Amino acid sequence: MRATAEANPNIALIKYWGKADAALNLPVTGSLSLTLDTAPTRTTVELDAALTADELVLGGTRQSGRPAERVSRFLDLVRAASGRDEYARIDSVNLIPTGAGLASSASGFAALAAAASAAYGLDLDGRALSRLARRGSGSASRSIFGGLVQWFAGDDAASYAEPIDRGALDLAMVVAVINDGPKSLSSTEAMNRTTGTSPFYPAWASSNPEQLAEMLAAIARADFTAVGELTESNSLRMHATMAAAWPPVRYPTAASVALLDAVLALRADGIEAYATMDAGPNVKVLCQPRNVEVITARLSSIDATARFLSAGPGQGVRLLDS
Ligand code: PMV
Repeated sequence: MRATAEANPNIALIKYWGKADAALNLPVTGSLSLTLDTAPTRTTVELDAALTADELVLGGTRQSGRPAERVSRFLDLVRAASGRDEYARIDSVNLIPTGAGLASSASGFAALAAAASAAYGLDLDGRALSRLARRGSGSASRSIFGGLVQWFAGDDAASYAEPIDRGALDLAMVVAVINDGPKSLSSTEAMNRTTGTSPFYPAWASSNPEQLAEMLAAIARADFTAVGELTESNSLRMHATMAAAWPPVRYPTAASVALLDAVLALRADGIEAYATMDAGPNVKVLCQPRNVEVITARLSSIDATARFLSAGPGQGVRLLDS
């Protein structure tokens, strides 16, 4: 009746952008990500027969409105599957604050899926947990697993994530947290606007599976350079597609662009660094662990106001003693 789970954020190397089914959160294309070993979300779910509604506390603050409704709708799925109808108290904290700008909806819904299914007495395997987490936030389906993870497009039964062997690939990520951007447009709204109005969206939808296949081949032969080039190219394609929507969807700020330039300059100097961006201004740089320090030093000389985090491959979701 009470369970606690922890999950880490993931950063997509081949992005998910666009829903084939909004209610089921089915993606138009498959995607592939790296689960990080930093900034976990820890969530406790406790059933209470005395409650007349779910109670959500995020980072110590009681929530109402949209965030609370979104979590309650998610718990409705768990209640329906378990045959139990009690409401629950949900207490969730980001162990590195959300202000870190990492995808907290991915770690958040992955942790919630694991804690809620355990609290309601469901015994789900990784695949079922991934499908459940997907309903909360698409990218959360990937945070169920550690390291490199692929999420399949398909129908409700077929759209889940699975870990991929990273073999001899030695991966790290430097995250530049830019805090001066305007508040981001939600990924759901931005996706709908892009699929609905960008004339480039069909090209995105048809070329993304090609880049995903190339990425899988590059991972299989442990070709770091190809993994990096595909990562940066895929992110640029996604943001170009969004920029052509109307009204335009544009997440990079001037500070982001300065960092993207710095990443190009690092490569010109022979340091392998590849940039990727998501639904916000932060720049994440895929690199090898031996280059983390030099990349962090260079990027901080470009933007002294950004905060920097570095990460390696992290583990999937886990239940804790609660
Ligand atoms: O899971 P959502 O709805 O927050 O969408 C995530 C979208 C991107 O982060 C931009 C790409 C991805 O695949 O994670």
